[in-house]
Amino acid sequence: MEINKIYNENCLETMAKMPDNFIDLTVTSPPYDGLRTYNGYSFPFEDIAKELYRITKQGGVVVWVVGDATINGSESGTSFRQALYFKEIGFNLHDTMIYAKENPIPLTHNRYEQSFEYMFVLSKGKPKTFNPLKDKCVTNGSYNHRRNTGRVAEAATRNRDEKTYVKADKFRINMWYYTVGNNEDTTKHPAPFPEQLAADHIYSWSNEGDLVYDCFGGSGTTAKMAHKLKRNWILSEISSEYVQISEKRIAPYLAQTSLF
Ligand SMILES: C[S@@+](CC[C@H](N)C(=O)[O-])C[C@H]1O[C@@H](n2cnc3c(N)ncnc32)[C@H](O)[C@@H]1O
Repeated sequence: MEINKIYNENCLETMAKMPDNFIDLTVTSPPYDGLRTYNGYSFPFEDIAKELYRITKQGGVVVWVVGDATINGSESGTSFRQALYFKEIGFNLHDTMIYAKENPIPLTHNRYEQSFEYMFVLSKGKPKTFNPLKDKCVTNGSYNHRRNTGRVAEAATRNRDEKTYVKADKFRINMWYYTVGNNEDTTKHPAPFPEQLAADHIYSWSNEGDLVYDCFGGSGTTAKMAHKLKRNWILSEISSEYVQISEKRIAPYLAQTSLF
């Protein structure tokens, strides 16, 4: 099967071409709850979930970014139902992460404003790759009270007559903040990923040379960031208009020999 290519078709047709255990990582966001109108999609969720399980390698990961619509004053709960269905067909719900928006659009005013989506990290067995991102510790260098007081600290420092100090960095937590609409490339697609969100997942759950898939390719963000991070990629996108947008967007990066 040809890789580093956008397939202009229903993702079920693309996945039907793939052998079992083929993809290292899928990073994707489905069309959810009819919140936006894309150019003529159909969304048979359960068939797509089962195919994703079949084509994912043992230890591979699917990152499913999704939110709920509010219908007649009640959230749909679609995201939870989908996460539970993924578990039912064999995926491990490895981590329920949050994509928090730094600039949410104020919507209703009878509750706190909606400002996040779920990022379900689903794995086929134990994830084979984890390259954790780290963040700076704001109190870097200061005396580490938690390490140096109490029973845990005693165990850690019992044989050493020394104090411990806060390190320069720490593992990132599972709530990630991004600004919506702040991408390097602007496109006419209504719901592109923040580029950094795609890049952060691709870096975390795959290695250079791995094969990354996006079954709902949209404006091509996953392909662009996979290419920049030296991964191979495949996209499916049902709308020819969005395929054209993606191809135009990705072309300059594919032409570059040195990345970043
Ligand atoms: C939420 S958007 C994805 C946006 C994408 N993450 C990006 O960064 O641009 C969902 C996309 O899925 C496409 N789509 C809907 N049903 C599809 C299907 N069955 N197969 C392939 N693509 C589909 C829609 O046209 C839409 O562009």
